[in-house]
Amino acid sequence: MSGKPYVPYRVFYVRGRGGEIVAAYATNTVRMRGNRGAVFLGAYAATSRQYQGVGFMRELYASALMQSVRDACSLGTTLQLALGECTEAGRRTWARLGRKEPYIRRPDGTHVAVYVVQPPLSFNLATGLPSTGATTVNERMMVDGFGSKVTKDLLIGGFGGLCDWTGRRESDEFAGDNPSASYAVYRSCFSGLERDFATRLNGGTLVLLSIDERAALEFMGVTFRDPL
Ligand SMILES: CC(C)(COP(=O)(O)OP(=O)(O)OC[C@H]1O[C@@H](n2cnc3c(N)ncnc32)[C@H](O)[C@@H]1OP(=O)(O)O)[C@@H](O)C(=O)NCCC(=O)NCCS
Repeated sequence: MSGKPYVPYRVFYVRGRGGEIVAAYATNTVRMRGNRGAVFLGAYAATSRQYQGVGFMRELYASALMQSVRDACSLGTTLQLALGECTEAGRRTWARLGRKEPYIRRPDGTHVAVYVVQPPLSFNLATGLPSTGATTVNERMMVDGFGSKVTKDLLIGGFGGLCDWTGRRESDEFAGDNPSASYAVYRSCFSGLERDFATRLNGGTLVLLSIDERAALEFMGVTFRDPL
């Protein structure tokens, strides 16, 4: 028995002249853990190759953020953070849209990139384990505090919001010989991811850098580690 993914997304898209979707951006806005406001979560973004570079994702991002402010309001709070993982191919796009990358600056000056894991979306309800093929992959993280200071607590709250969003199943959805044990396994997947994420923020000071700021520091001889 396999748990179908049922994580809701708000999808923004652009249609081409023939009605086909040529660019799409899947997002959601959820409460952060610890009463810290709302976090805008960007999940998937893609523009058809022939339309890349003409500004569709910039437009979709602007629309998504405007909606996110409204969604935060309807959650009874305010938007405090944008958080998303990104592939190497999307890195420069998100940088152009104002996102920065979190690093932990160690006492010896080395900067270690903070990666984020997109939690699995599909689970085996008989065991509570992620479905075969539903892996957890480390990806570069990009954030925006909209002009306010981004702290470790804020990132932990944002990642907690991501886990609450994706780990939505209730205990009565689990099956198998021992459904409550399956549910416990399911929950432990998310608590493990949250623990790992908090651990990544240890050992130094959190700094946010744009790609250009990182390049300037590297030019001055600062060491960076990307522990993918
Ligand atoms: C990444 C992707 C979604 C960007 O979509 P897009 O519609 O081409 O992006 P836009 O044209 O709106 O560009 C937005 C900004 O990023 C910049 N940009 C886009 N691609 C870039 C690149 N490869 N290098 C540098 N800057 C880039 C644009 O110049 C623009 O900035 P500007 O408005 O200040 O000039 C698209 O390239 C894509 O689908 N790539 C393959 C899938 C992928 O990697 N998805 C991202 C997962 S995180």
